[in-house]
Amino acid sequence: MTDRQMAQKQQAGEFAATLITDGMIVGLGTGSTVRFFIEALADRINSEGLDITGVTTSNKTSSLAKSWGIKLASVDEVSKIDLTIDGADEVDHQLNGIKGGGAALLFEKIVALNSAKNIWIIDESKYHDVIGQFPLPVEVVPYGSHQLLQRFLAADMQPTFRRTMTGERVTTDAGNYIIDLHLDRIAYPKSLAYFLEQTVGVVEHGLFLDTVDEVIIGGNQPTLISNT
Ligand code: 5RP
Repeated sequence: MTDRQMAQKQQAGEFAATLITDGMIVGLGTGSTVRFFIEALADRINSEGLDITGVTTSNKTSSLAKSWGIKLASVDEVSKIDLTIDGADEVDHQLNGIKGGGAALLFEKIVALNSAKNIWIIDESKYHDVIGQFPLPVEVVPYGSHQLLQRFLAADMQPTFRRTMTGERVTTDAGNYIIDLHLDRIAYPKSLAYFLEQTVGVVEHGLFLDTVDEVIIGGNQPTLISNT
């Protein structure tokens, strides 16, 4: 990652923290960009005495938010989430996104769908005409996952099990595996989403379509793109 990308992540995360107001229930995404947001939000909570409840999207984010003293509730304990701030791996000009680079796509999608508003924070390198350069994460049930991989292989989707540094299959917070599809270019995201949703053994996929309301691209003056 370049210094410019890292700086833009920080700018986007810090800008997003300025959008939070007292009393909000806030969805807390996962990843390195969200880390900047959480740190800036914790600063505001402490310095301004804001009453904020966070709803997290991964065990990692729960640990981070707790370490900053942010009050947390589960998605099932709140009546609504006012605003979720999350990162994304790739976003196209219609604001279709790929998420799940941090293996948190399932909980991220659950929190997003239960949020009145969703904002993604990204650096400019992730904003493309067409998504698909980033491998599409698909969360699958372990039982039968080898067969599923063969089916994706037969469909020419270049699938690989995501593995840890030590070679084991990555396990999500829900106990599933991740298969990454190396598609290069997703010309018809809706058709692909439909296909994956019809595939037995697939728990969730990383295509987030018609989900986000605004995208913030970091910069000295962050760019705000609205889904209107
Ligand atoms: C995790 C995600 C992240 O939001 C996405 O991977 C972006 O991460 P980062 O901010 O570290 O680039 O979808 O599952």
